[in-house]
Amino acid sequence: MTAPEHHLPRPHSVAHVAISLEGATRGFDVDLDRYYGLVGTWHEDVTLTGADTILAQESALAAAPGPGPAEGGPLLAVVDSGGRVGAWEALRNAGYWSDVLALHSESTPSRPPGRRVDELVLGADRVDLAAVFEEFGRRGVEVVRVDSGGRLIGALLRAGLLDEISLLLHPCFAGAGPDAPRWYGSDPPPAGAFRLVASESWDDGLVWLRYRH
Ligand SMILES: NC(=O)c1ccc[n+]([C@@H]2O[C@H](COP(=O)([O-])OP(=O)(O)OC[C@H]3O[C@@H](n4cnc5c(N)ncnc54)[C@H](OP(=O)(O)O)[C@@H]3O)[C@@H](O)[C@H]2O)c1
Repeated sequence: MTAPEHHLPRPHSVAHVAISLEGATRGFDVDLDRYYGLVGTWHEDVTLTGADTILAQESALAAAPGPGPAEGGPLLAVVDSGGRVGAWEALRNAGYWSDVLALHSESTPSRPPGRRVDELVLGADRVDLAAVFEEFGRRGVEVVRVDSGGRLIGALLRAGLLDEISLLLHPCFAGAGPDAPRWYGSDPPPAGAFRLVASESWDDGLVWLRYRH
């Protein structure tokens, strides 16, 4: 007799992303106050982000001595198969997260000795995102907010791991070329419908759209 399979609940996952009219995630002025003002909507347990999103702000992080870990704040988990992120201490001290977690794969280059960051090694060549979500479920994580410029969002969409998309649409074009990555990455997203669950607009032309599977 085989034991019944026990499926742990997968955390709810939401990607909150600021976009231009053509769906680009950079190349225009993001309304950061509005963007971060909306982040509190989900009360995330984990902020899941990609190495490229972190690297884009590494020099700013290094220049700003943070206040220290935020007690009761979310955990920052960074997908980093290439072992490219180095600013773990600055991220931990940035004042938003309670702690940081490096997500690596078996092919991630060896890490500097004495590095002070917890890590999870899941996947052979790249981080296995489904395994990450399973592990989050095992750890009691209920809500994951994805912070990504598109490539991580696209990978999660294609893996069926994204429940909600939150788009903060800015009333401008970024002038992005046809091959520039959009909020779902550079590869086509999987076909399928989402339903609009909430929307809001402001006089300055920003529109907030929330979709769920
Ligand atoms: N407008 C916004 O709301 C917003 C939000 C965040 C960031 N940004 C901007 O967007 C830019 C970064 O965005 P990005 O799209 O280049 O990078 P990203 O969102 O950080 O995604 C890249 C990460 O996703 C991982 N990844 C991609 N496909 C994967 C797969 N199939 N399996 C496992 N891991 C996978 C990559 O893994 P590897 O480790 O293997 O490379 C990498 O760590 C920056 O300029 C940042 O400032 C904008």
